[in-house]
Amino acid sequence: MPADRPLVMGIETSCDETGVGIVHGTALLADAIASSVDSHARFGGVVPEIAARAHLEAMVPMVDRALSVAGVGLADLDAIAVTAGPGLAGALLVGVAAAKAYALALGKPLYGVNHLAAHIAVDVLEHGPLPEPAIALLVSGGHSSLLLVESVTEPARPLGATVDDAVGEAFDKVARLLGLPFPGGPHIERVARDGSPVAVAFPRGMPDAAYDFSFSGLKTAVARWVEGRRLAGEPVPVADVAASFQEAAVDVLTVKAVRACREYGVGSLLIGGGVAANSRLRELAGQRCAEAGVSLRVPRPALCTDNGAMVAALGSLLVSDGVVPSALDLSTDPSMPVTSVLR
Ligand code: KG4
Ligand code: ZN
Repeated sequence: MPADRPLVMGIETSCDETGVGIVHGTALLADAIASSVDSHARFGGVVPEIAARAHLEAMVPMVDRALSVAGVGLADLDAIAVTAGPGLAGALLVGVAAAKAYALALGKPLYGVNHLAAHIAVDVLEHGPLPEPAIALLVSGGHSSLLLVESVTEPARPLGATVDDAVGEAFDKVARLLGLPFPGGPHIERVARDGSPVAVAFPRGMPDAAYDFSFSGLKTAVARWVEGRRLAGEPVPVADVAASFQEAAVDVLTVKAVRACREYGVGSLLIGGGVAANSRLRELAGQRCAEAGVSLRVPRPALCTDNGAMVAALGSLLVSDGVVPSALDLSTDPSMPVTSVLR
């Protein structure tokens, strides 16, 4: 196998998805995923101990499935990549322990990568080499950041981040108060299709801050508005509230991302993370990038939410760039900073 097209297995266990992906260079060969989301739904959020236990049960079956779909054997692999952080401590430990075991047993290099950097790197699987530099908008259940990315395999420069809730967290909390299931993002998107984005003028968080975000005020505004209707004995127009909330959230995200491209003179915007699966975010970002002459890259929705392919994609880029692997005594880092790529 030529070194410039490494065959890499990536393991992702930072939250509730056990993902094992296999890539060959930048070609996606397999992306096996088991989710414990149904076990968490009745608690309204991910329960760390349940997630860790589920990863333990799903790990080997997902590795077997990925190898079989890819049509390769463990001995063919050139490297193992794994999410080392950020994420849930116990969940991360399961993936890292498994990755160490495979790396040690096979005598292959181990790469303990940053989950957020992997959300950016995954786009190479769909759209080829990333334009560098690029502005990256990372929007997930735990993070909302704007980054200047000079090289995907090197630390990014943070431009701004949420000062309170992550945007995905806001989707999940608003969904909950509207009586929609967890995780709420896809349900908000679904019901919003029948609502009006201008029905309720919800606030845009921190409109004057250049690149920082705030979603807690928006969430509270939605809660107050809904409570007001309930106290008045009036029905809550769920579709309108969902559409108006979604519009407020994606409006600030896209305005600030395009502003960053303009002010830093960068011609490409990349959006990654679970919330990047949102069709209204993709649509509005597309419009605003077209107006600003910025090229937009967003992976297909299945690659936006957590998966193993994104970890394998970043691992493959690291191998190709000749980056020194992690040590076998690699530790997890539940609060790994958004700017680091590798531990
Ligand atoms: O990246 P991800 O899968 O996991 C984390 O790293 O956090 O992101 C999960 C988040 C959840 O908050 C979920 O509600 C949100 O992404 N999400 C969406 C959509 N799909 C997932 N939010 C809005 N619209 C969607 N279609
Ligand atoms: Zn994620």
